[in-house]
Amino acid sequence: MANLLLLGGTGFVGRHLCEQLQRAGHRVTVATRRTPRMAAAAIQHLPAVTVLQANTNDAQALATLMAGHDAVVNLIAILHGNEAEFERAHVTQVQTIIDACHSTGVHRLIHISALGAAQGATSKYQRSKARGEALLQTSGLEVTVLRPSVIFGADDRFLNTFARFQALLPVFPVPGGDTRFQPVWVEDVTRAIVYAIEHPGTIGQTVEAVGPEVYTLCELAKMAGKAAGHDRMVFTQPTALAYFQAVFLEMLPGVPLLSTDNLSAMEVDNVASGQLPTLREWGFTPASVPGILPTYLNPHLGVGGGRSYLTVLRDHASAPQRMTSKK
Ligand SMILES: NC(=O)c1ccc[n+]([C@@H]2O[C@H](COP(=O)([O-])OP(=O)(O)OC[C@H]3O[C@@H](n4cnc5c(N)ncnc54)[C@H](OP(=O)(O)O)[C@@H]3O)[C@@H](O)[C@H]2O)c1
Repeated sequence: MANLLLLGGTGFVGRHLCEQLQRAGHRVTVATRRTPRMAAAAIQHLPAVTVLQANTNDAQALATLMAGHDAVVNLIAILHGNEAEFERAHVTQVQTIIDACHSTGVHRLIHISALGAAQGATSKYQRSKARGEALLQTSGLEVTVLRPSVIFGADDRFLNTFARFQALLPVFPVPGGDTRFQPVWVEDVTRAIVYAIEHPGTIGQTVEAVGPEVYTLCELAKMAGKAAGHDRMVFTQPTALAYFQAVFLEMLPGVPLLSTDNLSAMEVDNVASGQLPTLREWGFTPASVPGILPTYLNPHLGVGGGRSYLTVLRDHASAPQRMTSKK
């Protein structure tokens, strides 16, 4: 049994990871910037999980929190922001974690990056993720890096959002609709994190967490709509229009549904590079989208039920920032 500290553990992946870790017999501390009751309603009931409010950006506060743990899992990320905000969340935060690890003697770190992370990427998100990874390479810590493609699962904000829009619109124009993705199921990602924690042989590895199949975004939108009983005409939104829409959405209050940086990321396919190991090399047989989708999207669930197009936009904007689309 390991005693683990989860940073960013209140989000989509973190919620699933807490359940997996408890099932595997580990103890978990989840740090959140928010009031635990508000941030962690979905995991607070788990007996093996303790949720604590902490400022993870503060080196001293993080070291105090980290002391006594066997390993750290870093899930902290933002999907939207300006250059400085990405730098803070994906680079400075990583350096603070490294410093806290050294000062407390916690040497094991599982870091969740993103497929497509590259110093030369057009997207600020992907560039900052690459800078964070680079810090880890020279940190002297026992690091395993996972790079997931877009993650799907019961409470995702990816295929669920596609389905909601199709419940409300007669046709569905998809920004970046021709971009190819290799979606990975959230349970496979979290199982892989547990595997890394339990297998020291994964130290020093960077693994691409991808599913078994490649789809364009239009194909994924079509599958989501069909599964939810709203089989609409789906087509790629013209690039100029998609950028205009993203600029408009960025001006709305709250977290934008789509940002210009998301569109930059979508200029490049988000599939396994062929240069790095994937979950298969760890002995996993990742689940497919068609295999899982009907378990959470089906006509009886009433996706979008009675809500207007603007309500869907507003709900998204007022939600805590979460990863939903291409990373
Ligand atoms: N979801 C995907 O499709 C996908 C795809 C590829 C890679 N990933 C990667 O997987 C990891 C987990 O993703 P996710 O979908 O679970 O993300 P998420 O739902 O957005 O959760 C991210 C968590 O990070 C914390 N956080 C955000 N900004 C922070 C900041 N400035 N300082 C400290 N904490 C901050 C938040 O915790 P509090 O608000 O409670 O503090 C939040 O719970 C991320 O590294 C992401 O880049 C996700």
